Amino acid sequence: MKLARYLLPLAMAFSAGPSLASEAFDEIKLNAGEALFDLECRRCHAVGSQDPSYGPPLENIVGRAAGSVEDYDYSIALEASGVVWTPAALRAWLEDNEGFMPGTKMRHVGITDRTVQDFILFYLDSISDTERNKQATE
Ligand code: HEC
Repeated sequence: MKLARYLLPLAMAFSAGPSLASEAFDEIKLNAGEALFDLECRRCHAVGSQDPSYGPPLENIVGRAAGSVEDYDYSIALEASGVVWTPAALRAWLEDNEGFMPGTKMRHVGITDRTVQDFILFYLDSISDTERNKQATE
């Protein structure tokens, strides 16, 4: 019963103080982000670096340098882009990846709804070690 996953944290949020509420909100955002990722991205992208993946695996993507998965056969455009996958860069990519990076071989995704972008970014952040990446790209 999927709805229970959403309703239970909500019920907790209403009966508890602000910090529990924000935890419940985060859990709801995470669930929504994962569901949207499953719908739009998962068929091409694994999130674990060891899992089979048609596109590059997205483990640790927030803060990662573009084109940095060893042994993945990137397009020249992506490999030479010099982009770091900040939340802003990922948002532009979700919105219009071919416009953001002409010559990429990822087929066009055009997610213009900011709320949907937010949820997907929230999920991507949850599978990333942003602090570590920040140090590595400094
Ligand atoms: C039809 C398959 C497909 C779908 C669907 C898809 N991608 Fe991709 N993605 C790719 C391919 C192929 C590449 C490599 C592009 C290149 O080398 O130019 C890529 C590259 C990327 C990169 C760059 C990774 C890196 O290592 O630099 C990100 C970030 C990304 N995709 C995110 C997403 C997200 C988020 C979604 C869902 C909204 C998505 N992709 C949907 C196939 C796909």
